[in-house]
Amino acid sequence: MDLFAQMGGERTIQRIVEAFYPKVLEDPLLAPLFPEDIYPVMEKQTLFLTQFFGGPPLYTSEFGHPRMRARHMPFPITPRHADAWLDCMRRALEEAVPDENLRQALLERLSVSAHFFVNTDEQAT
Ligand code: HEM
Repeated sequence: MDLFAQMGGERTIQRIVEAFYPKVLEDPLLAPLFPEDIYPVMEKQTLFLTQFFGGPPLYTSEFGHPRMRARHMPFPITPRHADAWLDCMRRALEEAVPDENLRQALLERLSVSAHFFVNTDEQAT
């Protein structure tokens, strides 16, 4: 069974996204990168995480190939941004996914991507 099915599908993805973005907007490092109207980002993230964890390819159907690292290039992402993003996600997962092993597996997958999206070193900011 893929991670999407294990976590309980669409409902759980929605809970994660709803728990995650308020934390991002409260994070002093991350908040300035995001638009005031966070709703469209939440919608895209819901579609993306669905397919990222093995569910139907909803993001690709609507927006084409994810090219996620490229889509993040307009934003300066340092290792500290990646850590802050992952910390918000860790706390969101604690609220949305009761199973600790599953939480760990989800966070590990996201951690690889978050570090891969780093495009700026600390000194440059
Ligand atoms: C490493 C730290 C990260 C930072 C600082 C970051 C920041 C951002 C920002 C600023 C946006 C654009 C918001 C806008 O539309 O103006 C965005 C979009 C997005 N991010 Fe991240 N992100 C990070 C990691 C990730 C990870 C790990 C994933 C998923 C694996 C992810 C998935 C997405 C998606 C799906 C979008 C919407 C893309 C689109 O416009 O179609 N991000 N992110």
